[in-house]
Amino acid sequence: MVAALADPRLSPCPRHAAGADYRGYDLPPAFRENIISAEPDDHRRLRRLVTPLMDRAAAHRARLRFRRAAEQALLAAGERFDLVQDFAGPYVAASTADWLGLPRAQREAYTAWANRVVGPDSATVRARDTLPAMAAIVEALPPLPGMGPGESTAMLFYLLFVWYEICVDAVASSALVAAEHGDFRRWQWAADEALRRHTPQTTTFRRFATEDIRLADATIEAGQTVLLSLAAAGREGGPHVAFGYGPHRCPGEPIAAALIREALTVLDGRVQIPEQAVEWRSGLRTHGPRGVRARRAEGTDSGGTGTV
Ligand code: HEM
Repeated sequence: MVAALADPRLSPCPRHAAGADYRGYDLPPAFRENIISAEPDDHRRLRRLVTPLMDRAAAHRARLRFRRAAEQALLAAGERFDLVQDFAGPYVAASTADWLGLPRAQREAYTAWANRVVGPDSATVRARDTLPAMAAIVEALPPLPGMGPGESTAMLFYLLFVWYEICVDAVASSALVAAEHGDFRRWQWAADEALRRHTPQTTTFRRFATEDIRLADATIEAGQTVLLSLAAAGREGGPHVAFGYGPHRCPGEPIAAALIREALTVLDGRVQIPEQAVEWRSGLRTHGPRGVRARRAEGTDSGGTGTV
């Protein structure tokens, strides 16, 4: 799997696609100049531009604000609540809006959008039906530094839309694993275990074979589509590859890790998550718990005690 992820003969550039053997949904044209589909030179340039927004230093700067967002989400969730809808969803939305510095109008629109995607009606809301609302938010934002307007719009779409649900899945799954082991302090261990066992982005984005290739015992013809299963790789033993591998490996891992860390720190000792049969939501590319019953731990108030 790791070799396939780094294999230059499997390219995400649509120019190598031969035809219609893959029926994922087509992105609106406004989002097509994205980092994943970019040609190698543009890809390297976009990666250089976006990385400072999400590297370790950026994550470190964001931690306190993530902590505050987690405190507020827990406070608003009440005594008995759903860990996904009432905590992870609003927490990740508020943190993302904050981290990207969304102006008030877009922040409110984003929170409303997020509530549709993971809120009470989420079972009947298809992500593609929310694209117009997301386009309106993204197109009203100022361009990201150094990027052309199309590149910036596509990048903001990926940051606000694509990784939102994946981060909610990762936060909720990590909390579930921590609760199962009765230990929220070993957040890194819980996160790695959740990313391996419940890999939130189940496959890579599509790749196209640039020539005929042999992969394991399959022959892939030039132009055919390949989806590499990150979830299956996680079950093969060894370290998980939930953040991918190779030139497109996730540069947002430090922000994702900070989101998980602050959530688990705030939940530590303040919630009870009983053992339960969890229903898992599985889309083509995302995987996470649909709902998780939780309640405030007895004898705890909603005020934060954690220190950074
Ligand atoms: C637990 C949460 C996350 C997971 C599991 C995850 C996973 C991934 C994976 C697997 C890829 C590579 C896809 C491929 O090779 O086709 C990727 C790419 C990417 N991720 Fe993440 N991601 C997460 C959170 C984030 C966050 C929070 C951000 C932004 C702050 C982010 C930004 C990006 C970007 C910009 C790329 C494109 C990299 C490129 O094409 O060079 N991710 N992510």
